[in-house]
Order: sequence, then C-alpha cells, then structure tokens
Amino acid sequence: MKILARTAIKQVVQAENAVEFCVKGWVRSVRRGKEVSFIALNDGSCFASLQLVLDPQLSNYEQLSRVGTGACLVVNGHLVESPAAGQKWELQVREATLLGDADETFPLQKKRHSFEFLRSIAHLRPRSNTFGAVFRMRSALSFAVHKFFQERGFLYVQTPIITANDCEGAGEMFRVSTLDPTNPPRQNGQVDWSRDFFAERTGLTVSGQLQGELFATAFSDIYTFGPTFRAENSNTSRHAAEFWMIEPEIAFADLVDNCRLGEDFLRYLVVYALENCREDLDFFNRRIEKGLIDKLEALATAEFQTISYTEAIERLQKSGQTFEFPVEWGCDLQSEHERYLTEQIFRGPVFVTDYPTRIKAFYMRLNDDQKTVAAMDLLVPRVGEIIGGSQREERLDVLQARMAECGIAAEHLDWYLDIRRWGSCPHAGFGLGFERLLMYITGMENIRDVIPFPRTPGHARF
Ligand code: 4AD
Ligand code: MG
Repeated sequence: MKILARTAIKQVVQAENAVEFCVKGWVRSVRRGKEVSFIALNDGSCFASLQLVLDPQLSNYEQLSRVGTGACLVVNGHLVESPAAGQKWELQVREATLLGDADETFPLQKKRHSFEFLRSIAHLRPRSNTFGAVFRMRSALSFAVHKFFQERGFLYVQTPIITANDCEGAGEMFRVSTLDPTNPPRQNGQVDWSRDFFAERTGLTVSGQLQGELFATAFSDIYTFGPTFRAENSNTSRHAAEFWMIEPEIAFADLVDNCRLGEDFLRYLVVYALENCREDLDFFNRRIEKGLIDKLEALATAEFQTISYTEAIERLQKSGQTFEFPVEWGCDLQSEHERYLTEQIFRGPVFVTDYPTRIKAFYMRLNDDQKTVAAMDLLVPRVGEIIGGSQREERLDVLQARMAECGIAAEHLDWYLDIRRWGSCPHAGFGLGFERLLMYITGMENIRDVIPFPRTPGHARF
C-alpha cells in the first residue's frame, strides 16, 4: 500500500476539492450492503466521522466489510460528493489496511450508554461521541485561558503542588510523606514530622493562591493554572478530590476590580467556545442541555448582577421557598440556596459579595463593618459556585489578628506576612474551577464527566 501522509479528518471533511487523502482512525460503525459497504471512521480531530465507501472489488473487501466497531484502519482514497444528508464528502476507498481489529466484546458498541457505565470504562470513553466533544472542549478552553491572560499581560506562574500550607484552612489536605505509615518515628507519643522528607508536615496543595500573592507583589498581574487537591469526603456531582483551578491575582485592585476581571474572563471563555467549538456545542445543545447555545449567547452580552450576602439572605428569606437548610444571617450558603439565587431570583450569573467573616478564609480583607469580609462568589445556573475570590487583607496588624483568631501559627506563614511588611499594596484575586466551567459550557451534569480520569472518594483506578 502506497503510504501517503495522514490528513486529519477535520481537514478532510472541510476540503475544497475532491482529491486523494490518507486517513487513519477508529471505526464507529459498519453497514454492510449487497452492492457496497460503509464505514464511519473517526480520528478525534472533530466530532464528525468520515464515511468510507467500500467497493466489493477491493482485494480485502471481505475482511474490511466485517471489521468490528472500535477497529483501527489506515485508508487511502479519494473524496467524492456524498449523496447522504449532512455531509459534503465521503471517501471512496482505494486501499485500506486493518491495523488493529476489535471484536464484539469492545464495550462501545453502537447503542447509547449511560454516563455511569462509561465512567466504569474511563479508559475507552474518549472514543465515544460525548466524551470526544467534552475533551476537545477541555483542550480548547485550556488554550483560551492562557490566551485571555497572555493578551492582557498577566504572568503565568507555576505554584507548588507539594506544600506545608492549608490555604483554605479547611483541613482537607492529602498528606505527602515518605515515613513508614505502619511505624513512623515518634516523639512524646506524636508522629515526629521533623524526620519526614521535608522535615515538616506537608500535603498536596488546595490552592496556589498564597504563592500567587507573592508573585502579584512582584509582577502586578499573574495567574496560575494547575491541579489542586481536596480530601473532602463529599460525594456530590460538583466536587472532585483532584481538580484544576485558574487563579489570577492582581495588585492595586479591590473587590470591584476583581468582579470585573471574573466577569470578563467568564464571558471571554464562553465567546471563545461559541466561536471556536461550534460543532461540539451543537451536539451538547442537541443531546445534553436543550437551550445551551441560547444560554451561552445570552451570557455573552448580559451584564452580571451583584448582590451582597446580607441582601441575598433577605431575598431568600422573603422568597417563601422552603429549604432543607434554614437561611439566616451567618449561615454558609448551601448549594440549594446558591441555585435558587441564580436560577430563580436572578436567572443568570450573579456575584454574591461581602460574606460574614466567620465563614470565610483568614486572608480575606476585613470590611469597615468589622463583621464581613470583601469576598465574592460567582454563581451560575445549574452549577452554582463557579468562582470564589476576595480582596486580600494587606494590613499586617489586621491580618495577624485574624490569623490568631483562626488559630493559624504566624511562624508557618512568616513569608506570607513579609509581603505586608515591605511594599504592601491592595490586591485581589479569585479561583475559577475549571471543571465547573466545563460543566457550565457543555451542560454535562456530573464533574466526573468533564475530567479525563476523575478522582473521587473510592475512585482512583485509571
Ligand atoms: O472557593 P475556593 O475554595 O477558593 C479558593 O481556593 C481560593 N484560594 C481561590 C482564590 O481566591 N485564589 O475554590 C475556588 C473554586 C470554586 O469556586 C469552585 O469552582 C472550584 O474552585 N472548586 C472545586 N471544583 C471541583 N471540586 C472541588 N472539590 C472544588 N472545590 C472548589
Ligand atoms: Mg468557595
């Protein structure tokens, strides 16, 4: 077989002229007919499969027309206009080689599978229509994240994955240790962490923010984009133990600037998807969330609403809705409250700002009322909280007092306090959960279905 250079099916289906191509990919379906047989071949470069037309004159016609779904082929052929609806071209096969056959035990046969089943074959689900679309979208939006910040002059910083600090203070860190778990060195009955690899207790980071702040006080505008880890034992459709977060941090900025950046960022990503991922979005719109494209197009032009936590509590109390968790000033907003706010009251994205000090992390800037902090969460329909951020406490004495209140030993964070000692400045930032963003843009309802190999309690197999 004459070896031509491979062309991605994405290029082939958009070809201008009916020329020769070599394509390589995996069989999605086979239709064997009396006169002629058809194979739908997909190589992941786009949603569409290329229709191959097999003539019985082919020397290996018997073999080719009986390949299984999932088999891998190399094909040379020329394009002909397709009489079938919905596709411009099909490929008249001149010669084809079977690289790897697949028998009927291949689990992704043609019928529709539940997402739950597909999770149990996470190693094969990228070869399905839905997950092809999800992971192309994930790749495109990763690029768009960098594009947004690089176009605005932000510095990309890689913050550490192993750290001694629990940024959110929620005690949800996975431990990193080389000590023998069955017989660790002890001192006074306690594990002696000073004899561990890093000579102190360390874990996987829950957020790159604290180190991000250090860089913002040198480079002004920075962002991180990396994996973060939380050992919270919550088995919900919106929590993963390993997820990716984008954390911009901006110097000389307050809470209002922070919200504007969050709004511009989310809008940019949505517009990017609408302009660059149309074929996959059309699929999500048809099969996953009806009205998805209308929703995204509305977001591209809508102004985001803002409401204070205190007002949000009042609106929830007045709504007449009964909630599982009672609503009163001081309570943490539960997902049912968040969704009611964004889905029923505002019917779109809404920033909730100025939360009670007691329910937020130590680094958030104390407001003049002494009861609330300059925090902001962005809530969106179906997903709830997609962004969490704040203006940071830049006043050394206030921060020290707050850390003492939260029981955080100052000597662990002396480096964090140092940037308040020398050249302190107002600054702010937020974290966007990348999987939550993907859920919002694709309409997929479970976080396990927007990350290649999800880590959740009890699951780390693939
Ligand atoms: O609200 P969070 O906990 O904020 C922080 O970590 C700050 N340090 C961010 C900052 O100000 N630089 O998390 C930020 C976002 C959430 O809004 C949510 O989208 C996502 O991260 N997130 C999760 N996504 C998936 N699984 C989890 N377990 C998540 N926890 C938070
Ligand atoms: Mg949060």
